[in-house]
Amino acid sequence: MKTFFVTGGAGFIGSAFVRLLLEEYDDCRIVNYDALTYAGNPDNLAGLNPDRHRFVCADITDPEAVLANLDENTDVIVNFAAESHVDRSINSAAEFLQTNIAGTQVLLDAARARGVKRFVQISTDEVMGSLPEDDDKFFTEASPFAPNSPYAASKAAAEHLVRAAHHTFGLDTVVTRCGNNYGPRQFPEKFLPLALANAMKDDSIPIYGDGRNVRDWIYVEDHCRAILAALEKGRAGAVYNIGARNERRNIEVAEALLDALGKPRSLIKFVKDRLGHDRRYAIDPSLAETELGWRPRETWATGLEKTINWYRENGPWIEKVRNLAYRDYYKAQYGTEVTVD
Ligand code: NAD
Ligand code: DAU
Repeated sequence: MKTFFVTGGAGFIGSAFVRLLLEEYDDCRIVNYDALTYAGNPDNLAGLNPDRHRFVCADITDPEAVLANLDENTDVIVNFAAESHVDRSINSAAEFLQTNIAGTQVLLDAARARGVKRFVQISTDEVMGSLPEDDDKFFTEASPFAPNSPYAASKAAAEHLVRAAHHTFGLDTVVTRCGNNYGPRQFPEKFLPLALANAMKDDSIPIYGDGRNVRDWIYVEDHCRAILAALEKGRAGAVYNIGARNERRNIEVAEALLDALGKPRSLIKFVKDRLGHDRRYAIDPSLAETELGWRPRETWATGLEKTINWYRENGPWIEKVRNLAYRDYYKAQYGTEVTVD
């Protein structure tokens, strides 16, 4: 039996990971520990077996609550909990420092106190900064840290704390650094689901700057399978870059979505650029492929089709998350209203 303590498991990637764990291990037990911030959504956990999955609404920055819910026999902590949106970190960094940095240290201390066997930190390619456009350079595990946004800087700091816990105390840690995820249940502040939700209502798709920024896209379940492989087979203290070799310019992503929905490309609207906007992310996943034996299962075409179908079939999910707080955020960020039912 494997006992997992998953933080941030009511968010986009965490909930996909919890679902995958329950599918892949017949005998696992999961404590899903999540503070349910604006990005956490209990609907993402609908239908999960309560005998094997226990949800706890609490904060990773609260050491007593973490210790109270972390059993001695826990095999693995997987830390997804984070403030995850770059634009929000540009607007206000405080919560990012609290959750992403202080919260990670609380979990590392608790892992040592409880003798947890392995600590998996879900990091991001953004800790390595931005690559030149139209170049053949890629991020590798040896790329230097060069975070450019408050979000990226907070995730880089968290990685340093994980490294220090391994080096100083011998905690068994593994770090994964992935690129841009897409798939079901992604909160529509992120570009792809925002574009999809807007286009479905014939609202315009806001594209920052010239739209030529490049992101390396991966289907969420492929990322989760890579985490599972790292958790099972990763070397203690190692870092693994995760990517599907799928670089796309933002404008291409918007066009692909509009074409698939049968909507006009005139819905694309260029807006003011993001401050400090990273130009290109591109990941070399060779180490994960060779050491972990991991490969993505979805192509861009199949992943996009699954994603679009999910959003088409889950209108009530979208409408519920585009609540008053979301609409206020949207108005403040973009200066326009979104159409809701
Ligand atoms: P998300 O914003 O959808 O979910 C974050 C979850 O963490 C939410 O359920 C939220 O309630 C919870 N949370 C936030 N603060 C918390 C706190 N203080 N205590 C407990 N729970 C808290 O994020 P996501 O896109 O699913 O990302 C998950 C992780 O993966 C993050 O660590 C992020 O940095 C990393 N990551 C994301 C991507 C991506 O493309 N989305 C890519 C690489 C890495
Ligand atoms: O690379 C991994 C990272 O990917 C994760 O660590 C982050 O948690 C995740 O949010 C994501 O960061 P990005 O900043 O790349 O994602 P976002 O969806 O915010 O933006 C993707 C690209 O689209 C980026 O170049 C900015 C652009 N964009 C974004 C929004 C929200 C737009 O052009 N318009 C928009 O409205």
